[in-house]
Amino acid sequence: LDDPNADPFEVAAAAAADIGRLTGVERHDIALTLGSGWGKAAELLGETVATFPATEVTGFSAPALEGHAGTLRSVRTPKGRHVLVIGARTHFYEGHGVRRVVHSVRTAAAAGVRTMVLTNGAGGIKPNWKPGTPVLISDHINLTSASPLEGATFIDLTDLYSMRLRDLARTIDPSLDEGVYCQFRGPQYETPAEVRMAKTFGGHIVGMSTALEAIAARQTGMEVLGFSLITNMAAGIQTTPLSHQEVIEAGRDAEPVISSLLARVIGAM
Ligand code: 6GU
Repeated sequence: LDDPNADPFEVAAAAAADIGRLTGVERHDIALTLGSGWGKAAELLGETVATFPATEVTGFSAPALEGHAGTLRSVRTPKGRHVLVIGARTHFYEGHGVRRVVHSVRTAAAAGVRTMVLTNGAGGIKPNWKPGTPVLISDHINLTSASPLEGATFIDLTDLYSMRLRDLARTIDPSLDEGVYCQFRGPQYETPAEVRMAKTFGGHIVGMSTALEAIAARQTGMEVLGFSLITNMAAGIQTTPLSHQEVIEAGRDAEPVISSLLARVIGAM
C-alpha cells in the first residue's frame, strides 16, 4: 500500500482471500468497524466463526492505541448473515496515508460485503448529548483535506449515510438522535474556535475517523450506516479539559448499552 504503483484494490483482493482462508467463509455480507466504546458488540452479534490478529491479513498493520483491539473476527448472526468485525482501524493522524486508512473498507468490499457499519467515539457539539449517548451519523463534513479517491473519480455522496438503514436503526431505538459528523485530522483535539467553526458549518459531532472510510465504502457501492458514541462534549462546549482517558472511560461505561443496540440493529439487517 505504500508503493504508489501498487493498485490498492488488488491489495484488498489479496486481503479478502486471506480472510476467506482464515475464516472458511466465502462471502461476508456485513462489515462492522469498531470505534472506542463499541468493542463488546462483536460478542453479542452471534456465533464467532474465527478470530485472528489483523496482522495475518495482507496490508493490515498493528494499531498501537489503547482501546483499539487489532483483531478481525467473523461472526454468524442468528439470521445466517456473515459479519466481518474489524477491530483494527488505522487513523489518518497516524500519518501512513489514506490508502491504509481505507484498506479495511476495500477489503470488506472485496470479501463480498454490501453493508458497511462504521462506529466511532467522538465529541458532541449539542449540549443535550450527555457522554455515553449514541447518535446516528446523518451526513459528514470532511475537514481532513484528504480523499481516498485517486484520479478523476467523481462519485456522488447524496444519501451517503443510508436513510433506509437509519430508519431501520430507529425501529430498534426510536429515541436515537442524529447529526452531522466532522472529521478533523487530529490527533490533537479541536480548539474551541474550531468547534465553533464546525458548529457554524452545520456540524454536530467532531471526530478523527469515519468520513474517509465512508467515501471509500460508497466508491465500492456499499450501503453505509454510521454511529457515534458521544464520549465527551467538544472543547469549549464542556469547560473541563479533554483527555484520551476520559474518552476511554466514557466508552467503557456506555459499552453494554450501545453494544446491545448495535447487535440488535445488525441482527435486524
Ligand atoms: Cl472532542 N474531538 C475529536 N476530534 N475526536 C474525539 C473527541 C473530540 N472526543 C472523542 N474523540
